[in-house]
Amino acid sequence: MNYEFILVESEYQPHIAIIRLNRPKELNALNLQLMLELKAALASLDEDDNVRCIIITGNQQAFAAGADIKQMESKTAIDLLKIDQFETWDQIRKTKKPIIAAVSGFALGGGCELAMTCDMIVASETAKFGQPEIKIGIMPGAGGTQRLTRAVGKALAMEMVLTGKFISAEEAMKAGLVNRVVAEELYLDEAVKLAKEVTQMSPISIRLAKESVLKAFDSGLQEGLYFERKNFYMCFASEDQKEGMQAFVEKRKPKFEGK
Ligand code: HXC
Repeated sequence: MNYEFILVESEYQPHIAIIRLNRPKELNALNLQLMLELKAALASLDEDDNVRCIIITGNQQAFAAGADIKQMESKTAIDLLKIDQFETWDQIRKTKKPIIAAVSGFALGGGCELAMTCDMIVASETAKFGQPEIKIGIMPGAGGTQRLTRAVGKALAMEMVLTGKFISAEEAMKAGLVNRVVAEELYLDEAVKLAKEVTQMSPISIRLAKESVLKAFDSGLQEGLYFERKNFYMCFASEDQKEGMQAFVEKRKPKFEGK
């Protein structure tokens, strides 16, 4: 499929796909078409048995500076209701394979929300995270008030959302928003390194484990525990579980086939 605003490599490294947001002049502002392309690319990579982990990145200057303000400027509430862009975001969230955001430069508004919609974030030391919507008379709409608060706690989330202040990669690391911070020239390599660790594991248990961790966000503890338990049992229906445990007993490296 031909995309206008993203670049996709389904075999960037063995079992690792990469999606690059590609509107550099606009700091990768997320217009509606870009989001639809992202949804389509993720759905197709999710179907591809060869892919075990997906990286979403931008460029050194920007992961994404938010939703496209020029496209939103003249819209009414009813226009937005009809466009229903959050259906696209919901689909992205439903991607079964793990997604790592490799972030350098600006990750603002919808850009920060997109990074948080991914499962892990590797940041360049030049990364800047923020929810500056308040400065343009709106507020976060793609999960910012919820995911940021869960990630960094009420105090910092409230300050970021109410004042629009940006935080550095280092602050984001301290606050628990990102997994790793590395030098700018290394952030993509570091994301690949993390992805490689994930691709060594059984794709089946990775899928079930991701689903279970996410459940912690949208359920009470008891419901989450039952959900986790069912997915734990499900792992034992896989050949990968037998292989993983046999390999441990035989003191060798497991070979996971996703079966
Ligand atoms: C449209 C954008 C944009 C955006 C930058 N650009 N961000 N266009 N939507 N979100 C464009 C600029 O208009 C400019 O185009 C070019 O990219 C370069 O940006 P500059 O402002 O000249 O760069 P700089 O001075 O370095 O400032 C960088 C910046 C600033 C601090 C990131 O661009 C900025 O504040 N951007 C907006 C950030 C923001 O408010 N994001 C939240 C959006 S609302 P021209 O043509 O002039 O060269 C949102 C809601 C999400 O995300 C909820 C629903 C999905």
